[in-house]
Amino acid sequence: MLGFGTVGQGAYRMLADNREAIQRKVGTALEVVRIGVRDPEKPRPVDPELVTTDLESIVSDPAIDVVLELMGGVAPAGSLIEAALAGGKHVVTANKELIAKQGSRLLRIAAEQGLDLHFEAAVGGGIPLIQPLKHQLAGNDVLKLMGILNGTTNYILTKMAEEGAEFQTALEQAQAAGFAEADPKSDVEGYDAQYKLAILCSIAFNREVPPDNVHREGIDAITRRDMQFAELLGFRIKLLGIAESIGDRILARVHPTLVPKEHPLADVRGVYNAVWVQGDFVGDVMFSGKGAGGAPTASAVVGDLIDVCRNIRIGGAGNLGPFEAGSAAVPIEDLRTRFYLRLIVKDRPKTLGCIATIFGNCDISLSAMEMRVIDSGRNLGEIVFLTHPCLESSFHRAVKAIKNLHMVESVANWLRVEQ
Ligand SMILES: NC(=O)c1ccc[n+]([C@@H]2O[C@H](COP(=O)([O-])OP(=O)(O)OC[C@H]3O[C@@H](n4cnc5c(N)ncnc54)[C@H](OP(=O)(O)O)[C@@H]3O)[C@@H](O)[C@H]2O)c1
Repeated sequence: MLGFGTVGQGAYRMLADNREAIQRKVGTALEVVRIGVRDPEKPRPVDPELVTTDLESIVSDPAIDVVLELMGGVAPAGSLIEAALAGGKHVVTANKELIAKQGSRLLRIAAEQGLDLHFEAAVGGGIPLIQPLKHQLAGNDVLKLMGILNGTTNYILTKMAEEGAEFQTALEQAQAAGFAEADPKSDVEGYDAQYKLAILCSIAFNREVPPDNVHREGIDAITRRDMQFAELLGFRIKLLGIAESIGDRILARVHPTLVPKEHPLADVRGVYNAVWVQGDFVGDVMFSGKGAGGAPTASAVVGDLIDVCRNIRIGGAGNLGPFEAGSAAVPIEDLRTRFYLRLIVKDRPKTLGCIATIFGNCDISLSAMEMRVIDSGRNLGEIVFLTHPCLESSFHRAVKAIKNLHMVESVANWLRVEQ
């Protein structure tokens, strides 16, 4: 094992607690023989004889069959995995960042060596996602995939929706409950979900999708007011990873989205994750469960390990093989979707007419509208529009023109809406 933190200790405990049952399933005993860490002084619930800071000695030990990389980060995890594969060892990893950035290259090395490189835990923690996409759903043409891929942001958005909290308060509550890091950037700004969506896309569409090809926006601009209007209009706001193939290209994006209350993803609350997949033959399928934490993530790591061990026993590798080369991403400006727009306006007779004219000139039709007086003394009102599907570039053209109207005080927020 490389790494003995939250996931490493979870995997170690699962292998110990369920040792006999796992042995019966695999047909042989599994032994953890070395554990690589950074700080040798930390107290750990494990025989100190197993622990080393010399990680190279693990990946080059000829007596070791499988390496579990549970340390995280791109370096030195990537070169250690490479060295393990070069030395004939199968590898299981939970490392989303590394797989998103270098998965294709590492899979190519594993395939050349006839070895397994599994990474179920890298997306959705304990939820089986990679294996079903690789196997049971592999015959389908995946039409669309949408997921709540980050538990921290889903916890924050749930608090905002259900308790009327503002973003900052909900973030502090998430930090106090241990669901958000002291530095929440990776979760809140959507990087974590971006890595996970890149991996899911590569599997679902069998195409190399680098994280940079996934458009990314975070949730820090969402306010309690947006939550209230979304509720009123029949939606919930979720940070979604959404991917679809358009012709032979893929449009992949992570951003806060209005999801209709009837959609199964709208009911995914708190730290839970879920992925909804639409296949041409299977129809709609949804996977959900705990997307992080030592025990759920260990479940995915140990599941992968058992798969590897079964392959070793039959003398093969169930490797995925490298993905096909990717094509250029579809730019977000080419997206056709519905939009939500919230404006602060001066309450004047021609305000609505002027805004509607701009929408019309940009070929955008409206599907719903809500209006509130927010400050009668200053004659200020708030208007929310929902559009029918339109081109993202047209929507931004309209917003730019609306912003310039003298009766518009500010564009308070805008969001994309799923049907
Ligand atoms: N936590 C989750 O819920 C979760 C869920 C899904 C996937 N993952 C992924 O699982 C991996 C591990 O996450 P984690 O939460 O278990 O991390 P963690 O608690 O921070 O543990 C990391 C472990 O790796 C060791 N380590 C890190 N860098 C090292 C280095 N350069 N040399 C030697 N040892 C090093 C640390 O050593 P010390 O103990 O000496 O510090 C620690 O034992 C990451 O890729 C993460 O993205 C985590």
